Amino acid sequence: MGLAKRRFDALIIGAGGAGLNAAIQLAGREARVAVVSKVFPTRSHTVAAQGGVNAALANVLPDNWHWHMFDTVKGSDYLGDQDAIEYMCREAIPTVYELEHNGVPFSRLDNGKIYQRAFGGQSQNFGGAQAARTCAAADRTGHAILHTLYQQNLRARTHFFDEYFAIDLIRDDDGAILGALVLEIETGEPLLIEAKATVLATGGCGQAFRTTSNAHINTGDGMAMALRAGVPLMDMEFYQFHPTGIAGKGMLITEGVRGEGGYLVNKDGERFMERYAPNAKDLASRDVVSRAIVTEVKEGRGCGPNGEHVLLKLDHLGEEIINKRLPGIRETGKIFAGVDAVREPLPVFPTAHYAMGGIPTDRFGRVLAPIGTGEEVVPGLYAAGECACVSVHGANRLGGNSLLDILVFGRAAGLDLMQHMESNHRPMSEAAVDKAMSRLERWDRKGDGISVRELRDEFRKCMEDHAGVFRTEEIMDEGVARLKALRDQLDDVRLQDHSRVFNTARIEALELENIMACGMAIAVSALHRRESRGAHSRPDYPSRDDANWMKHSLYLLDGDRAEYKPVQTRPLSVETFPPKERVY
Ligand code: FUM
Repeated sequence: MGLAKRRFDALIIGAGGAGLNAAIQLAGREARVAVVSKVFPTRSHTVAAQGGVNAALANVLPDNWHWHMFDTVKGSDYLGDQDAIEYMCREAIPTVYELEHNGVPFSRLDNGKIYQRAFGGQSQNFGGAQAARTCAAADRTGHAILHTLYQQNLRARTHFFDEYFAIDLIRDDDGAILGALVLEIETGEPLLIEAKATVLATGGCGQAFRTTSNAHINTGDGMAMALRAGVPLMDMEFYQFHPTGIAGKGMLITEGVRGEGGYLVNKDGERFMERYAPNAKDLASRDVVSRAIVTEVKEGRGCGPNGEHVLLKLDHLGEEIINKRLPGIRETGKIFAGVDAVREPLPVFPTAHYAMGGIPTDRFGRVLAPIGTGEEVVPGLYAAGECACVSVHGANRLGGNSLLDILVFGRAAGLDLMQHMESNHRPMSEAAVDKAMSRLERWDRKGDGISVRELRDEFRKCMEDHAGVFRTEEIMDEGVARLKALRDQLDDVRLQDHSRVFNTARIEALELENIMACGMAIAVSALHRRESRGAHSRPDYPSRDDANWMKHSLYLLDGDRAEYKPVQTRPLSVETFPPKERVY
């Protein structure tokens, strides 16, 4: 019996903010759009975004997009592409108004305008006083945005394949992407979806680390699918550790806490960020604050019985402000730390949070792959959101620029795709379909090695130990060797008993393969980059080295190779921001 097949104009894999904002551009223009999501769409990880989305609306303090651009370039440690950054910061303003008009219930100022809070790395006037640029719906901004986008897509008649897992892209002999093979999770039945264009919008790969703010679903599926289709992953060594995860558990405590006036203290009650970032203090950028926390703990100034965390103090804000602006944080603190933030400080430590790197795209969302000595668009393939690397975040992303990235570039991908969709579907070759099917069929047999769960736990622990906030050659050399040895065990991995666990066992194995592909990309890229820049901190190479390393890395699955390409330092319409020492 042949495989079931469906045909659409566009296939979007992932139903977070990027996928849904791409879909809405298309569905609104009468295109037939399929969105495939491995969870019910409103459970996509965008729902967990807390603090807000950046846009220079100037509702609270003076602001403009050019200052936002400066902060983003500086935050990226000058590795971000300045054309894409200019585009994102300009587009931020209409993007937020579009959300408002579509019904996102933003918090409001007394004058009725959208509430904006201060976030890390934001400044007025190119590095001056703190700005307040993050548009918030209390501390549940992602939830508000995702639900609104989902409802708008339902209205536009986007076709949702809920709880379908994407196995692999279908790639033709000439390199064009013709759709994907997906699996209905409930029945275990495969389905081919043919599309004129496919958008990867599958989010991040935080599950590559043991302690993470990411949901269980963030297994790097789209990034790994791209790798298997011959597309490299760009700048994967730049993985962001959010400074304030619940200690030992990793759940996110929004930077909005510090934006509202909360601050970090060590065991002596010292407000230690004053030493590390005398001007911005607790609102320095995330790489700076995470390193400061780890240093405090390493040097014996940590809190708790084992001195393994620091404290985030916000009780002085008062119950009324906490309930109004940070209700989710109060709840998270009670549930996961047993602490009521109205009365006591929260125990926090950096948590794996966000991949600055990902699938290389241009600012229209088109995926780029190296061809000969140059680079070309992969026909029929787009990527947007955390799985993509445009690159607007470079070596370190600013808080609040992630929701912005997914919305701006999700929209850009949808619009570009609409204009360039070829008029005819091309048939999928049998060989291309067989290749994707073999990835699934591989898990129809039972190995008798280590279990999927044990192998996953070992891999994630190894990532935490060897690719964390501080990395040296020695630590990473050992880490890459261990990760490779763990990856080798995948072939013989033992699935849960099929008869009792149903086909979710296969999906756990497929996800583990994806996690391993992303983890390896992070570790190998990190090992090769011999400098410290943004979130990639090498005590053995403590300085930024613009002469040798002002370039993007490209990790290729084939041979675990690393290649490089230049940074786009020229913006679209303004002057370049030249690299400078980065101080806060
Ligand atoms: O801290 C936060 O609310 C996270 C925001 C972000 O990662 O952009």
